[in-house]
Amino acid sequence: MMKIMTMMFMMFFVTCGYAEMIRGKQLFDKAQCMACHNSEDFKDKTISKSKTFEQMKEKVSACQINNDAQWFDDDEHDVAMYLNKEYYHFKQKE
Ligand code: HEC
Repeated sequence: MMKIMTMMFMMFFVTCGYAEMIRGKQLFDKAQCMACHNSEDFKDKTISKSKTFEQMKEKVSACQINNDAQWFDDDEHDVAMYLNKEYYHFKQKE
C-alpha cells in the first residue's frame, strides 16, 4: 500500500514539473549563483532583461558557463524551470 502511495506521489511531482524545479533549486544553490545575483535581478521587470522563457534560459546557460558550473542541458533546463516558477513566471510550453 505504501509503495503505491509513494509512486502516486512521485508521479504527481513529476507531471507537475516539481521534481525538475526542486532539482533546479539544488543546482542553483550549489553553484552559488546568488554570489552575484539577488532576487531582484530575476523578479524585477525593470532590472531583468529577459522577456521570454527562452531568453532567460540562454542567460542561465551563459552564466553557468562563465562560472564553470559544468551543467548539462538538463541541468540548465531544471534551473530555468526553478527560476521561472520562483521569479519570472513566463508562460512556457514544457
Ligand atoms: C560572477 C558574477 C555572476 C555569477 C556568479 C552568476 N551570474 Fe548570472 N549574471 C551576471 C551578470 C553580470 C548578468 C547580466 C548579464 C547581461 O545582462 O547580459 C547575469 C545575468 C543572469 C541572468 C539573466 C537575468 C535577466 O536579465 O533576466 C540569469 C537568469 C542568470 N544570470 C543566471 C545565473 C545563474 C543560474 C548562475 C549560477 C550558475 C549565475 N547567474 C551566476 C553575473 C553572474
